[in-house]
Amino acid sequence: MSTYSIITYGCQMNEHDSENIAGMLEALGYIHEEDPWASNLVVMNTCSVRENADKRFFGVLGQFKKIKKSNPDFVLCVCGCMPQQPRIVEEINKRFSWVDIVFGTQNIAQLPELLENLHKTGKKQRAIIDNNPRIAEEEMKPVRMHNHKALVNITYGCNNFCTYCIVPYTRGREKSRMLSEVVCEIERLASDGVREVMLLGQNVDSYKDAIGNSFAELIKAVNEIEGIERIRFMTSHPKDISDEMIECFRTCDKLCRNIYLPVQSGSDRVLKRMNRHYDRARYLEIVDKLRAVCPEITISTDIIVGFPGETESDFEETLDIARRVRYDSAFTFIYSPREGTPAAKFEDQVDDVICHERFDRLVELMDGISLEKNKEYMGKVLEVMVDGLSKTSPNTYSGRTDGFKLVNFTSDKSEEEIAGQIVKVKITETKTFSLEGMEI
Ligand code: 5AD
Ligand code: SF4
Repeated sequence: MSTYSIITYGCQMNEHDSENIAGMLEALGYIHEEDPWASNLVVMNTCSVRENADKRFFGVLGQFKKIKKSNPDFVLCVCGCMPQQPRIVEEINKRFSWVDIVFGTQNIAQLPELLENLHKTGKKQRAIIDNNPRIAEEEMKPVRMHNHKALVNITYGCNNFCTYCIVPYTRGREKSRMLSEVVCEIERLASDGVREVMLLGQNVDSYKDAIGNSFAELIKAVNEIEGIERIRFMTSHPKDISDEMIECFRTCDKLCRNIYLPVQSGSDRVLKRMNRHYDRARYLEIVDKLRAVCPEITISTDIIVGFPGETESDFEETLDIARRVRYDSAFTFIYSPREGTPAAKFEDQVDDVICHERFDRLVELMDGISLEKNKEYMGKVLEVMVDGLSKTSPNTYSGRTDGFKLVNFTSDKSEEEIAGQIVKVKITETKTFSLEGMEI
């Protein structure tokens, strides 16, 4: 019996692609194996956004070489954002030519065919074709990580070309799925017992289907689906967010009161060079509108420090906007040049030492704010949708509030009984990244 394992790096798009890949492999008779080192077939679903992504990726490939040597029947497949860069494929073909299958982000549905060709001909398979018509999502049978919540793509690709970002080059041009198709998929999910959906897109606010339906219209349609209790979405883009969408936080009862709204920088000069198409005043105006419509909304963000040309006063504007917004949580990144993006060629790259010093100051500020915000929940009773047993603390369960706060809590119930349910938890301790409590 053949076993498979998938190693997934990066964002939720990749996570969902991996669920679809697992579905295809299981349809071919492969059985899931947790440990990649003990599998007959491994798929590496790669990411190129993070710092040193290339180095780490080639490091892991090098480790698999040993398995390949000792077991010639072992099959290694590489997909995701890495092979979307021609120089990476060249390097694989030159230094790691023993890799069996390499396929791009728009060639996922071809995996069964590539495996068949590999087995028939013994020849290595390479399939990286941009703008390949993507197979309809309804023909996919993903193996989902959870029974109660599901990731649902609403757009693919990105047209924004932020100057630091590799995604528009690795995921192709933006395409929106038809509203009717997304609704059909979610209705099917609901009938399978799914209660929460996460609508996914690089920029959900620019969603527009072929007959002109907007993102707000999509949310309203999903809000009507029976069985679905929670709707989330990511990622929002401040340049495209509409008043109609913001209004959904008032009118759509299933829409979770949480938004992931990357700011990237608080300096207008830096935002311009990042090609973000908004300024700090516009960003703060959006935050005010969101809080006016939904006072309890939690806000998460992404921030890059050390973007080329960032001065101390630009950076202070980032600290200032963070203090004004008071984010519930923030993902902070040190800028790292991505080959092929405009910013990698900017001449005023910021010194590493300065980047790290700014990064530490930013993290200290953000962590302090997150902790203060979490303290507001002390003693309160919150509704938590349970994911399952906690990965970090024994004998506790973990789940998320409507506002996406991570809650670890104790309960007398068994895992089968509680997973996927919404329970009431009294908060007894507050930390920077989580809340602790007990079910009542
Ligand atoms: N350097 C640092 N951070 C980056 N991000 C994207 N590209 C880069 C880069 N070259 C960050 C952005 C984005 C998040 C997913 O990753 O903040 O929102
Ligand atoms: Fe990258 Fe900008 Fe597109 Fe987000 S919106 S994926 S940061 S180019």
